[in-house]
Amino acid sequence: MEQKRISVKICVGTACFVQGGADLLLYEDFLDPELLGLCDIEGTSCLGGCKTDDPKWKAPLVEIAGVLYPNVTKQRLAELLREAVDA
Ligand code: FES
Repeated sequence: MEQKRISVKICVGTACFVQGGADLLLYEDFLDPELLGLCDIEGTSCLGGCKTDDPKWKAPLVEIAGVLYPNVTKQRLAELLREAVDA
């Protein structure tokens, strides 16, 4: 059976970009090639988290298969993608 592809959107709005989103955009440098082959990754404009006062939505945000995740580091992105691929 063909493996489903995971849609990944890295927020590159200003708040996210300056708080770590820029590092996440270098995903080809730190993600496992196997993961890269299973994910469609792109930058996207503001996902809205920075427009709220809720500290839960700390930048940078990433949307994975339609679900928003805050405060994503390079390591966290790798973990989240592994979980999404294995789900
Ligand atoms: S800039 Fe990323 S949520 Fe607004």
